[in-house]
Formats: sequence, structure tokens, C-alpha cells
Amino acid sequence: MSGTGAAGRALAALLLAASVLSAALLAPGSSPTPDLGKKRPLELKMDQALLLIHNELPGTNLTIYWNFDCCYHCLLQVLVDVSQSRKPGEPSIEAVAVSTQHGSILQLNDTAAEKQVCRLEYKFGEFGNYSLFVKHTHDGVSEIACDLVVNEKPVDSNLPVSIAFLVGLVLIIVVSFLRFALSLEDFRDWISKAINSQETDGLINSELGSPSRAGDPPPEAWRQSAAPLRLRSVDTFRGIALTLMVFVNYGGGRYWYFKHASWNGLTVADLVFPWFVFIMGSSIFLSMTSVLQRGCSKFRLLGKIAWRSFLLICIGIVIVNPNYCLGPLSWEKTRIPGVLQRLGGTYFVVAVLELLFAKPVPEICTSERSCFSLLDITSSWPQWLFILMLEGVWLALTFFLPVPGCPTGYLGPGGLGDWGKYPNCTGGAAGYIDRLLLGDHHLYQHPSSAVLYHTEVAYDPEGILGTINSIVMAFLGVQAGKILLYYKDQTKGILIRFATWGCFLGFISVALTKASENEGFIPVNKNLWSISYVTTLSSFAFFILLVLYPVVDVKGLWTGTPFFYPGMNSILVYVGHEVFASYFPFQWRLGNNQSHREHLVQNIVATALWVLIAYVLYKKKVFWKI
Ligand SMILES: *[C@@H]1O[C@H](CO)[C@@H](O)[C@H](O)[C@H]1NC(C)=O
Ligand SMILES: *[C@@H]1O[C@H](CO)[C@@H](O)[C@H](O)[C@H]1NC(C)=O
Ligand SMILES: *[C@@H]1O[C@H](CO)[C@@H](O)[C@H](O)[C@H]1NC(C)=O
Ligand SMILES: *[C@@H]1O[C@H](CO)[C@@H](O)[C@H](O)[C@H]1NC(C)=O
Repeated sequence: MSGTGAAGRALAALLLAASVLSAALLAPGSSPTPDLGKKRPLELKMDQALLLIHNELPGTNLTIYWNFDCCYHCLLQVLVDVSQSRKPGEPSIEAVAVSTQHGSILQLNDTAAEKQVCRLEYKFGEFGNYSLFVKHTHDGVSEIACDLVVNEKPVDSNLPVSIAFLVGLVLIIVVSFLRFALSLEDFRDWISKAINSQETDGLINSELGSPSRAGDPPPEAWRQSAAPLRLRSVDTFRGIALTLMVFVNYGGGRYWYFKHASWNGLTVADLVFPWFVFIMGSSIFLSMTSVLQRGCSKFRLLGKIAWRSFLLICIGIVIVNPNYCLGPLSWEKTRIPGVLQRLGGTYFVVAVLELLFAKPVPEICTSERSCFSLLDITSSWPQWLFILMLEGVWLALTFFLPVPGCPTGYLGPGGLGDWGKYPNCTGGAAGYIDRLLLGDHHLYQHPSSAVLYHTEVAYDPEGILGTINSIVMAFLGVQAGKILLYYKDQTKGILIRFATWGCFLGFISVALTKASENEGFIPVNKNLWSISYVTTLSSFAFFILLVLYPVVDVKGLWTGTPFFYPGMNSILVYVGHEVFASYFPFQWRLGNNQSHREHLVQNIVATALWVLIAYVLYKKKVFWKI
């Protein structure tokens, strides 16, 4: 392995590149915002376009209805009324801002007759200028045509993301290559001679870990010794999930795909929490096995598990109830569920379950023939039975619990969805259970369903019922941990099992969702933590491990830099990023608050800072363990 100095330089390079990236993206002259004229009656916000509706019909007032095409079974909303044209050849014009995040449906009705004039679907582009001409066609007076014309082209709002992604990818490749090169002895000697004369490098070396200090243990080290079962790929995966989580929690450049899906479906933001839960499951098993092997009593371990879960839940409640924007809180308005609470509850159930059935010395297959090839599953049949029963409870409550005023087994968002028939049924049984047991005021007040579906009731995405499925998710993570441990000297065996699990769970997801967003038996849904969401995300997780394990642990082609470091200090990074979210330098006043580019730079810099903080703490051997 290369020395710690190389890693220091790599990270310094990373941060430098982050600032270069911000400078490049912030360079003046390439502002994507059109010069907002003084005469303009309408200030366009982020993700909006200007639509001018020209009504050339004499004697017909128009009502324009609108909604997103991805809003499933949604009522259309009145966008604007356009009065009749006063004189022939003098159209009446109305200007409106339309959202550009998704495709739009526009329906134009004759106001008086409530008759449809025309209907069109179109994807507007950010800061574009469009005109919609409503007029009689030249040949027939009864025929009405609606023509959409682009006056000014929209900006490419995804360009900053593409640039940032490419820069990030190039950086990781370059840094990995440098590390690889630096691990070749001669080259390292040469480069350290060339670099060490510089003062800055000396500073970085002495501050962030001196070369004399032992480097990270080689990937093979854990195989020889029985005790430490820490796998770099597991920490790297956790770090990737955590880094993405920090980025999306900080706003993700205000792009819709870095925010949670409004109801059914998956966005980048919906990926990270389940992965985190999955990896927690793997770590529970790996660390518990090594603690038991060292002779710790089960009873003491149980006390420790209970204490940790309690701490996680307490810290979680503190974190989800910040004071700064709404003024001091009272107990009546305290939110109870949350991410860390969910983690604490899941951790408790899964860890106790594993502890109950744990054998002090796990059976380990040393060769393919020495043990049954399904050992990872057969050895844990009692746990599987419990998990299947728990899942039965989820299915029974979700589909058979009568909810007053709502259809039984309702999985929709309520609000405008389902043609507005069940406005207060958001989340069906899951929402009802939370409102009943915890009360409206102790739940999350701004669920993502409010964005598309205009829901008004409180709904908590980390509610009680969904915890069952996060337990299932963590248990699938335990399964991955078992595979890694039981077959630890058979790389091929591990990879085959990961691939099999990934495919198996993938097939279940396809069957449950009928490979569609909204039409399936159980759609993929982050707000409900539906079982198809769990199977889909755990399928992805197995495939990610299928790549990470050989690359990071077996071959050592990638050390997991920079994600490895936050992965080693996840509680600290999670709590820190939540608490310091509104402090400088994680947030500052933007020149143009409506620019995706500026938000993206801010969020990337804030995320990079947390990675750097995690790196510094790693080098100083500071870890927040609870
Ligand atoms: C259209 O609206 C205007 C004012 O709102 C009203 O005076 C006019 O009668 C309406 N025209 C029709 C055809 O309904
Ligand atoms: C518009 O016209 C259509 C067709 O005539 C009608 O079904 C609908 O109820 C009207 N209103 C809205 C909001 O679509
Ligand atoms: C949009 O385009 C129309 C037609 O070309 C033009 O009259 C109007 O000024 C433009 N609006 C803005 C805000 O650029
Ligand atoms: C939904 O809840 C709101 C506020 O709590 C209430 O005003 C409304 O009448 C309810 N709607 C239905 C259909 O129950």
C-alpha cells in the first residue's frame, strides 16, 4: 500500500479540484439566467419557463388547466384564464410561469361551455420563452388549432451536473492511478523527493499523518487473523451512501432527481437511506461475530445493543427538531420519527435477532466441498422465519387494516391523486397508524407528496409501519455479511451468491411492480418503504457489493478513496452535517438564488468538506462510536 502521504496529497488534490470546479462553474459571463428585463411582469424562478397564451378566438373565454404528466391520476389545476379576443387580429395574451421539472399536460377549455378546446403534452425547458397560439384554422371556421412556438430556447439546466460528474469521475480515476503509481517503490521515492521540498506538502504530511505512521492495513490482512472482520468494501459502500446522503440532504443543487420522489418511483435521493440500512445489517453481523469470538457474553452484548439503540433514537429526536426557522419548539409539536430513530429501531430488532441465534464460533466453509452450499441461509432459518412473519404483518396491516374514510389497502398519495377522491388518505394504513399512535403534530409536516399531489395531511416517511421493511432490508444486509464471512476464502463463491441474490431480489421487484412505476401490485415507494422498494434497493446493493468486493478487497484496485473515510465515521458525519447545515462554509448567500449551478457548487463544496473532515479525523484516529 502507498503511504499516508499519498492519500493526503490525493485528498488535498480533491479539495483543490472542488474549488477549481466551483470557480469554473461560477465564472462570470456564462450565467444561465436570462437578463430579467424591467418590463417583465413575471420573475421566473428556478425550473420555470415563460408561457404566453395568445387567444385569437373572438367570443370565447378560455380556461387553461395544467398538471405534470407524471402526477398519476391527478386532477388538473387551473393555470390561468384568458379572456376572449377583443377585435379580430388582436389576440388577448396572458403570461404565466410553467414548471419545467417534468413534462406538462395542458388542457384548454371554453370557460362558459366547459368544453375542451384542445389538449397538449409538452416538456418545457428551464428559462425558455414559449407562445401558445389558439386560433381558428384558415380553411374551416369550426376547427381550432393550438400551436406551441418556442420564442427563446431554454437553457440546459443539466449541464452543471454533467460537468461536475465528469470532473468527479476523472478525479477519482486520476487519484487512484496516482496511488497505484505511488505504490511502486521507486516512483514513490522519486516523487516524494520532488514534492517534499515544498513547504505545503511538509505541512500536509505532519498535520494529516506522517509517513512513518503505519499505513492502512493491506486488504488481505483480515484473512489471516481471526478477529478483525472489517472489510474495506463494506466501509466504502457505506461511505458512498453517506456522501450521497449528505449531498442530497444539502439540496442536491435543487434538481428534482436529487430530491425524493413525490410518491411512487425512484430518484437518486431515494437510493441512499436503504443502502445505509443494508450496510448496517452487514456490519452488525460482522462485528457481532468478532465480539462474540473474543468471548464477550451475550447478556453484556444485549445491554450494549439496547443502550446504542436508545442513544441513536435520542440523538435522532434532537436532530429532527431544529429551532432555528420556526422558533422554539414545544413538546406538542416535537417530531418523533426520523432517520436515526428508524436506524435505532432497526438496529435493535436485527441485532437482538442475530444475537439470540448466534453461535459463538460460526461455521466457516474452507473449501467448496466441506460444507453445504446454502449454509448462509440454512444456518439462519429461525431468523428467516421471524423476518417472513414480520413481513406478513406488514402485508396484513397494509392491505387489510380498515382506515376510516379511505379504501382498505390504499397505497396512494391522496391529495390530487386518484382524481382527488381521497384527499386525506395519504399513505393509507401507514399514515393512519402514525396519526393514530403518534398524533398529527408529532409527524413530519412537509412530506414529498405535497410537491406533486398537494397533500395537506401530515405524513412521516420514517413512520412506524415502514420500520418493518427497514428491518427486512437490514436483514438482507446481514445475509450479505454472512456470505462474506462463511465463504471468506472463496471469492468465486461469494460473487456467485451476490449475483444470485441480486437477480432473485430483482425478479421479485419486477413481479411486484409489473416493471412499472404506478401500475404494479406494490409500487416502489420511499414514503411507504414498500416491500418492492426494499427488494429493488437490496438487489442494487448486492450488485454494488458484487463490484466493490473484488475491486476493493480482493484485488485492491481501488482503496475506496474518498468514500472510505466518511464510511468509517458515519454517525459523526451524519450528525455533523445535519447540525451544521446552515453554517458557513456549508452554506452561504448565493449571488443568484434561482441558479441550479450555484446551488450545485455550494452543495458539492459542503459535501467535499465533510469528506475532508472525515479524512482528517480518520488520520487523527478520532471516531465517534456509540
Ligand atoms: C368572457 O369574459 C368577459 C369578462 O370576464 C365577459 O364580459 C364575456 O361575456 C365573456 N364571454 C363569453 C363568451 O362568455
Ligand atoms: C374541460 O372540458 C372537458 C371536455 O369537454 C370536460 O370533460 C372537463 O370537465 C372540463 N374541465 C376540466 C377541468 O377539464
Ligand atoms: C418572449 O417572447 C415574446 C415573443 O418573441 C417577446 O415578445 C417577449 O418579450 C419575450 N419575453 C421575455 C421575457 O423575454
Ligand atoms: C381533509 O382534511 C381537511 C383538514 O383537516 C378537512 O378540512 C377536509 O374536510 C378533509 N377532507 C375530507 C374529504 O375528509
